[in-house]
Amino acid sequence: MGKDQNISFLEWHLESGVDALLEEKPQNILTNIEKNVSLHNKTADTEARKKTEIIYPNIDECNSLRDLKEAIFKFDGCNIRKSAKNIVFGEGEVGSKLMLIGEAPGVEEDNSGKPFIGAAGKLLDKMLDSINIIRSETYITNIIPWRPPGNRKPSLDEIEAFKPFIHKHIELVKPLIIILVGGTAASTILENDTGITKLRGKWYKFKNIDVMPVYHPAYLLRQPSQKKQAWEDLLNIKKKIISL
Ligand code: URA
Repeated sequence: MGKDQNISFLEWHLESGVDALLEEKPQNILTNIEKNVSLHNKTADTEARKKTEIIYPNIDECNSLRDLKEAIFKFDGCNIRKSAKNIVFGEGEVGSKLMLIGEAPGVEEDNSGKPFIGAAGKLLDKMLDSINIIRSETYITNIIPWRPPGNRKPSLDEIEAFKPFIHKHIELVKPLIIILVGGTAASTILENDTGITKLRGKWYKFKNIDVMPVYHPAYLLRQPSQKKQAWEDLLNIKKKIISL
């Protein structure tokens, strides 16, 4: 590629929303394509798979949120952490009756280390407020604790890599009700690939805890016409909280 072509290539990435690199060193994508072709060789294939086996810390030994945060911080089985500034672990107290689980942090969350503080978070606060729930009395976290580069959706492999941590997070917080905020949280916790449009507004159980998937506030900001359904779900959640 000539110099001008290289610049156009980078500009094209920027315009497509790529604002971070996952690897610290630049890579020659043409060399990598050759490497991938050679993976059809069986020995190389086994070696490659061995290398991608995820090594977890002992999550069962995490007896507190602090232990869990440390375990996630040390976990390097997923490249997504490399481009993020801060871990966005979660906010709230053990024993909060209501736990909210979103997808992954965005840029504001990455800068501050706190979940749901950007535009979507502000709408989430208003949604909670509308049914008299104070955010500080809830526990809020995400399926993925690191911001995906360029705010892209986390991949299935990334979601799978962090699943044991979110399960432990729920076990430690011990909520009575979980609100799954958006399709990624809903399909991950419910292990159900049905879209959020069908999943939302109904009660499910996760390890005996009442769970309700709702539309993600980021989606509601783009599609305000869906707020009516979100309001119905909120009233349903309020009713459940009153019945506890
Ligand atoms: N969207 C999410 O799903 N989580 C956040 O923390 C922020 C935006």
